[in-house]
Amino acid sequence: MNYDIDLIRSYFPILKNEVYNKPLVYFDSAASAQKPVQVLMKEEELHNDYYGNIHRGAHFMADKATLGYEEVREKVGAFINANSTNEVIFTKGTTESINLVASSFGEKFFKGGDEIIVSEMEHHANIVPWQLVAARKGARIVKWPFNDDGTLSLGMLEELLSNKTKLVAVAHVSNVLGTVNPVKEIIGIAHKKNIPVLVDGAQAAPHIPIDVQDLDADFYTFSAHKMYGPNGVGVLYGKEKWLNEIPPYQGGGEMISEVSFEGTTFNELPYKFEAGTPHITGVIAFGCAIDLVNEIGLKNLTEWEHSLMEYATTRLLEIDGMKIYGEAPQKSGVVSFNIEGVHSYDLGALIDKMGVAVRTGHLCADTVMTHYNIPGCVRISFGMYNTLAEIDAFISALNKVRMMLQETP
Ligand code: ALA
Repeated sequence: MNYDIDLIRSYFPILKNEVYNKPLVYFDSAASAQKPVQVLMKEEELHNDYYGNIHRGAHFMADKATLGYEEVREKVGAFINANSTNEVIFTKGTTESINLVASSFGEKFFKGGDEIIVSEMEHHANIVPWQLVAARKGARIVKWPFNDDGTLSLGMLEELLSNKTKLVAVAHVSNVLGTVNPVKEIIGIAHKKNIPVLVDGAQAAPHIPIDVQDLDADFYTFSAHKMYGPNGVGVLYGKEKWLNEIPPYQGGGEMISEVSFEGTTFNELPYKFEAGTPHITGVIAFGCAIDLVNEIGLKNLTEWEHSLMEYATTRLLEIDGMKIYGEAPQKSGVVSFNIEGVHSYDLGALIDKMGVAVRTGHLCADTVMTHYNIPGCVRISFGMYNTLAEIDAFISALNKVRMMLQETP
């Protein structure tokens, strides 16, 4: 594999920082990834050279910003192999993308007695929006449980699907278990019954290639900030036929065609779903993050991060009392665990003082915690810039923390 880790790390100046006088080991990219200089410089360039509001201006800077914004829409479309840029909607993030679909699709298609199948391994952003719309419409959420090893059973999905089912919502990659779900098969099963599927790709987009046409996904969502782009930018991919059929999510500038007090007509796709001034600099800088990911190649990223995950798993399993959550054969990006007799919060707080940034607690996935009957866990998650040496540093810090905590009466 041609993977120049030194060059890649040089793009992320923050990684040279020390925290509490210790070299930083950043193992929290699943929560938010660090930004490369390419992204940071693009935001600055835009603010310094050609900032203006998009789609509205009749001046040089507004036109240039509009062009930059629309070029990124094309880039995103190519990144996920959308059929058309009409299918690429910019949002604030995955959470807003899912809320948009729940609200607009639910408004149009859900009614009393309908069912929405949601997997048990979803993070809150792919559960709560469905609960909100279900409550408004008198519909019901049906839990699709996962197996203890962190896999979903396709047979169970077939049993749960019924003529009441209106949609299936599932993560491409679980943010706790790391499971890469077989979304193509899941979509195939649902489509046999003409049921659309929303795939939450927040934890997949930075790590594995996505082809929405090959998957035949009806909706696919992800966030820029987890894939080295700015925060406050997300993507909703939706099949054009659905986006045409469902009503707008928010009202305001850009999503209108004509406004009068007698009635308003709406703009075409994709603008129908982009009310108000969007995160212009964020979207344009996101283009640089996509360029970087493309330049390195998702195949290389997948391979590199997989070797990190395998090594981390092996090293963690050497520790007495170690319990890893998620043992699916296909995993990506994250390893979540607990050590017997150690509280995850204590571990997180102490290891932070040693320079290692991890995430602890419920990981925005209470239903996964409930499945294992735990209050929380520790999660390490990787980005393109992490190394095997950092895993060694983490394991040695972890052993120190563990001894401190296990010795404490
Ligand atoms: N869902 C994000 C995470 O897993 C915030 O950390």
